[in-house]
Amino acid sequence: MITIIGATGATGGALLRRLVERGIPCRAVSRTPDKLRVAIGAEMPVEVVGADAADPRALRAAFTGSTQLFLAMANSPSQVELEINAIDAAAACGVRHVVKLSAPAAEPDSPVAISRGHWQVEERLAATGMVGTVLRPYAFMQKLLLNAQAVAEGVLIGAMRDAPCNYIDVRDIADVAVETLLRPDLAGATYALTGPQAFSQPELADLLGKLTGHPVRYIDLSPDDFHAHLIRTAHMPDWLASHVVEIQQLAIARPEAPNNTVETVLGHPARTLDTFIREHLTMFTTAPLFR
Ligand SMILES: NC(=O)c1ccc[n+]([C@@H]2O[C@H](COP(=O)([O-])OP(=O)(O)OC[C@H]3O[C@@H](n4cnc5c(N)ncnc54)[C@H](OP(=O)(O)O)[C@@H]3O)[C@@H](O)[C@H]2O)c1
Repeated sequence: MITIIGATGATGGALLRRLVERGIPCRAVSRTPDKLRVAIGAEMPVEVVGADAADPRALRAAFTGSTQLFLAMANSPSQVELEINAIDAAAACGVRHVVKLSAPAAEPDSPVAISRGHWQVEERLAATGMVGTVLRPYAFMQKLLLNAQAVAEGVLIGAMRDAPCNYIDVRDIADVAVETLLRPDLAGATYALTGPQAFSQPELADLLGKLTGHPVRYIDLSPDDFHAHLIRTAHMPDWLASHVVEIQQLAIARPEAPNNTVETVLGHPARTLDTFIREHLTMFTTAPLFR
């Protein structure tokens, strides 16, 4: 049995759909199981279990009978504690393989606080004796939708200057995760996952302009001004605004070159940003009439 933490999220949701399409029995864990049941629909043969990762006993009940765990935990100030709870509960329940969604620059001295947390979780996973597979994808294309309204109004705002930034479609991350769950020869490794091409923000603005048919201008702010913008305009909490700024500064310090890992694992190229934007064109072109 494969159990999924994060099935209501971007990557875990895509993974759940793939497993169901392939007829693989799976169990989805959520803090709001009733909502998840409604979202999945009765026709999907998925076991839905309610558990909060803050509650180790609930986790152990959720993992009983599982052989594998896919772990995609939302970013938060308590993320490390929650993920370590999940890993410890999995080990206690006899789970043999954990696929953990991590992030780039997961290192003890990473300039990105969330990535330092991922490194702690990866270390804990390695110490349990379970087989640990680690996925370290670049930025999710799906998160670009958070900028859709600004893009519809003709602007893209950031603090990345002209650094090359790589975007990957979460469906490719999920597809790679499925392969690592089903093919023992792929389990136990760390995978840096990228989309097929890196784009600077000015290049991304040009691409959005070309595909939407209206001009999109990139506005580059200083890290401090971008942080203030994220809090004031996007209403992010301080820790999340700091995370976004840190990730963008990381892209400047370490250019995000694409690799061929997705293609090697899946046997076909990773989805392109062009395709993703075309699929979501309405969102990038529909500015609200009233604010
Ligand atoms: N965004 C990016 O561009 C990017 C890039 C690289 C890596 N990452 C990493 O990807 C991860 C996020 O992945 P995602 O965006 O696919 O996920 P997501 O959409 O943020 O969803 C995360 C999941 O976390 C679950 N969750 C949160 N708190 C929980 C708790 N206390 N107990 C049980 N479950 C809990 C939620 O489940 P319920 O609400 O149903 O309980 C939800 O399904 C982060 O660790 C991030 O560092 C993100």
